[in-house]
Amino acid sequence: MKVLILGSGGREHTLCWKIKQSPKVADIFVAPGNAGTNQIANNVNLNIKDNKEIADFIKTNKIDMIVIGPEDPLVNGITDYLEADKSLKVLMVIGPSKAGAILEGSKDFAKQFMQKYNITTAKYMTATKDNFSASIEFLKTMNPPYVLKADGLAAGKGVLILDDFDVAIEELYKMLNGKFGEASSKVVLEEFLDGVECSVFAITDGKDFVVLPEAKDYKRIGEGNTGLNTGGMGAVSPVPFYNAEFETKVLERVVKPTIYGINNEKIKYTGFVFFGLINVKGDPYVIEYNVRMGDPETEVVLPRLKSDLVEILIAASNKTLKDIKPEYDSRAAATVMLVSGGYPEAYEKGKIISGFDKVKDTILFHAGTKVENGNITSSGGRVIALSSFGGNIFEALEKSYKTAEVIVFDKVYYRKDLGFDLK
Ligand code: AMP
Ligand code: GLY
Repeated sequence: MKVLILGSGGREHTLCWKIKQSPKVADIFVAPGNAGTNQIANNVNLNIKDNKEIADFIKTNKIDMIVIGPEDPLVNGITDYLEADKSLKVLMVIGPSKAGAILEGSKDFAKQFMQKYNITTAKYMTATKDNFSASIEFLKTMNPPYVLKADGLAAGKGVLILDDFDVAIEELYKMLNGKFGEASSKVVLEEFLDGVECSVFAITDGKDFVVLPEAKDYKRIGEGNTGLNTGGMGAVSPVPFYNAEFETKVLERVVKPTIYGINNEKIKYTGFVFFGLINVKGDPYVIEYNVRMGDPETEVVLPRLKSDLVEILIAASNKTLKDIKPEYDSRAAATVMLVSGGYPEAYEKGKIISGFDKVKDTILFHAGTKVENGNITSSGGRVIALSSFGGNIFEALEKSYKTAEVIVFDKVYYRKDLGFDLK
């Protein structure tokens, strides 16, 4: 089989690494990929926003399966585009249709969906320019902090959590008037939920599903979960509070009704569902849906999957997922993200990275890296993810931290306190 993966981060290197282990796979292409994917597969310089360019590549290279890493191409309708092409009838497309991707692409839609299918989530109201005064009245009924979410995709920056009522009103006004462009023409106002977050992933064929190991990522740049939000500074799996009782609640109250809803709404959905959850006093609430794997969660979830991922994806594509029982590694996994100094604000790129030959007992995944004049250099904010196994998440973290000392580039930064809130 020939597989094409879209994307260029740590998630895509991990997908590539896992897919490469399948005896079914002969060739892997990654568009555009990074220095890590290029070592184990073939990077191709395609514009992942250009559906036709992707379709042409698939035809010329006789690709059997495409796995779409990030959300943008999905929200952009790549799946519908490829499936509408009669000459691509046998292509397996891993990623939902546009109608499914809207679960991530519109927070207003996601909230309506959750309400319709009785999925536990925060109380909310959707504000628009037309209901501004009613929105203010709604906010008055909420306790601070106030949660304001741009409806559409805003590159992870569209959620504001504000302590002051007047500031919240001011920000709401700015959002409705274009702060995040079209993405904030609607704003979801939400009850603040106090708890610890975790991420749960499923692979679905639109009717049946398998659940992957849960994970917890660390979004803030600073130790103690302080400072600005990032794409994710590291992750652990399993999550200590995710016990059998919590797991059953997630399955019954969140995963099953979501997949039932997808099927009931006749949404074409083959691919990953990411449930962003928060544990409020032992009960799971959905904070958000994503229609792809998480990054850096993938860097701990896929190493813990013992089964052949490609077999699962083929079953999803053939709608035979109900026959699949994936096996998981009982060991814990942790990943530590090495980032460019200054990230998530302005940072320098092009730093030479060294120490790769000293890595032992850790799986090194590239994120923002490229090859320049024969050197591997940094090309993004998140640069390298170091994933290790251990008897528990703390042992796994310790191994990744040891490895972090040998990977060197100018102004490298990483959080040294991952897992602190799970002790
Ligand atoms: P989202 O893009 O919806 O995942 O929101 C980004 C982050 O904001 C989440 O990961 C949470 O940390 C936080 N957040 C979102 N909604 C809420 C909420 N209702 N209560 C508390 N925190 C929230
Ligand atoms: N780690 C969170 C995300 O991928 O959105």
